[in-house]
Amino acid sequence: MTEQLGNPTLENLLTETRAFPPSPELAAQANAQPEIYDRASTDRLGFWAEQARSLLTWSTPFTEVLDFSDAPRARWFGDGQLNATYNAVDRHVEAGNGDRVAILFEGEPGDTRSITYAELQREVSRAANALGTLGVTTGDRVAIYLPMIPEAVIAMLACARIGATHSVVFGGFSAEALFSRIIDADAKVVITSDGGYRRGRASALKPAVDEALAKGETTVTNVLVVRRTGQEVDWTAGRDIWWDDALAAEPDTHLPVPVDAEHPLFILYTSGTTGKPKGILHTTGGYLTQCAYTHLNVFDLKPETDVYWCTADIGWVTGHSYVTYGPLINGATQLLYEGTPDTPHKGRWWELVQKYGVTILYTAPTAIRTCMKWGEDVPDQFDLSSLRILGSVGEPINPEAWMWYRRVIGADRTPIVDTWWQTETGAIMISPLPGVTATKPGSAQVPLPGIVADIWNDAGEPVGKGGGGYLVLPEPWPAMLRGIWGDEQRFKDTYWARFPGIYFAGDGAKYDDDGDIWLLGRVDDVMNVSGHRLSTTEIESALVSHPSVAEAAVVGASDDTTGQAVVAFVILRGEAVGRADEVGEGSDVVAELRNHVAKQIGPIAKPRSILVVAELPKTRSGKIMRRLLRDVAEHRPVGDVTTLADNSVMDLISSGLNAAPAAD
Ligand code: WTA
Repeated sequence: MTEQLGNPTLENLLTETRAFPPSPELAAQANAQPEIYDRASTDRLGFWAEQARSLLTWSTPFTEVLDFSDAPRARWFGDGQLNATYNAVDRHVEAGNGDRVAILFEGEPGDTRSITYAELQREVSRAANALGTLGVTTGDRVAIYLPMIPEAVIAMLACARIGATHSVVFGGFSAEALFSRIIDADAKVVITSDGGYRRGRASALKPAVDEALAKGETTVTNVLVVRRTGQEVDWTAGRDIWWDDALAAEPDTHLPVPVDAEHPLFILYTSGTTGKPKGILHTTGGYLTQCAYTHLNVFDLKPETDVYWCTADIGWVTGHSYVTYGPLINGATQLLYEGTPDTPHKGRWWELVQKYGVTILYTAPTAIRTCMKWGEDVPDQFDLSSLRILGSVGEPINPEAWMWYRRVIGADRTPIVDTWWQTETGAIMISPLPGVTATKPGSAQVPLPGIVADIWNDAGEPVGKGGGGYLVLPEPWPAMLRGIWGDEQRFKDTYWARFPGIYFAGDGAKYDDDGDIWLLGRVDDVMNVSGHRLSTTEIESALVSHPSVAEAAVVGASDDTTGQAVVAFVILRGEAVGRADEVGEGSDVVAELRNHVAKQIGPIAKPRSILVVAELPKTRSGKIMRRLLRDVAEHRPVGDVTTLADNSVMDLISSGLNAAPAAD
């Protein structure tokens, strides 16, 4: 299991002694006070019931808290009813906060929009009515394929308002990936846009939807198209409808539909160890409870005064829980930014922090490392004094990046919350609490109050302080996934079989001598590139679907900026071998294969380098030894080759290759 250790390495974590206690001022006014841990552990279910009652408004109050008799599928607050959008929007208007800004939008070109809760209520109501007019009802699925614009949030809330289950597909995914997700979920409507702004230009989105829907028979009856860039779009009469036209035709009031607590709120596809992405299913009551609770306590949110900014795209779970649901349920004011951090200049994020007076920033280690590379004189040009809490998510944050984040962005003053969780957990599970925890560079530290996490060895025994092994979640939690869409068996096999009946997260972890948890990266064939999960098998399948490729093996190699990078080894087929100018990088066929992967999955999956090889290292039983390939990709001497069927293979690979990264 030590094969895929990410950052930090075991060596540096064992010597970490720095700790940053909260300031007395923060401790005194923080939402979370130290006794919350005791309260939660004394009566865990009572604690969650209290959170569910105090943070959400229920149309039918629940009496049951947890029913795990049908394990591993849990029911939380099972006899209660509520509506997610009512909780995220309407009740704030009813409470007299309709004029509070919900979304401060900044487009990449610099266009802005400010949307109050009252405006959001009207807009979401129109959108919900429009979906109803298209025949979408409670229980249907809607695919959302949009850039980071307010309509993305509005579309999600419109679905939730009528009890339709949304499936957001990241706008950077290919037509192929969109098609397979539409098919898997039997989506009835797709909500997209003409395009979005990315790196200074309008980039089209609608053509990918057209291409996806042309790939085969689907259940899609309509495509709603938001006008964002004004680009020319192909139009399928009868199927395609402009979002603006559809909304303009509808009233701006709509009664939210109360649904059962266990009603499916969304499906979100994520990479697993096999080629086919898994549709992670989340339901309503438990998910929203934990989103609201974590957002309030981990970020110490004060809805009246904070300006919160989570930089994640809504195509990922972080965008679901900490852009759409958590912040809006809590009545926060948040910034939504469409573009990249370096357009039109490398100080764009910090300029936005200054412009909007952002107080809470939640981002990913890869972004922090990128900013480190650009130099601290970039953020130093801006006034970042409004910031008071900094968050990190998506991959282990190395202590150097953590310290830089605190010192340069947080003026050596702001607590950093390193939050560990997954698409499957739905919400934050392990994190310090600002105002309570003395934070430690590089460690996510402790399970949140109400959450049980532990580290076990191969035999399923707790390792205790100072020990390392597998991260497990021994007790159910409210926002836990309720299954894999349409594949109950895969749900059981993937998460509940490694240690029978216990949730295994797929991450390696270690306790330090204080009992703080350090995450060490995935122990399976899932890579983490810039905080995005990619499956080695999925990329291998994409490669072998190309006619020139006979065989492919993909590994995640450490990368200073992106955490891991995709490195592929391919064996070409007959005539393609002749087309590669020389064995190795830089040939036309390599460029073609990199583009092929981008087309099959999306640009984020594009290998950093593809190495053309004559053989792959295999064991006698035919398993590819990725460990050895990783050694090559990371420029290390190759390790133990004694289990190879033919141990001259590694010599052949190492001698024929120059594994220098092919950047783009
Ligand atoms: C990794 C993103 C270390 C981990 C919310 C997990 C982390 C996977 C952290 C889930 C963190 C996420 N420290 N590792 N703070 N946060 N991870 O589903 O390997 O996109 O299993 O969810 O990211 O990625 P996912």
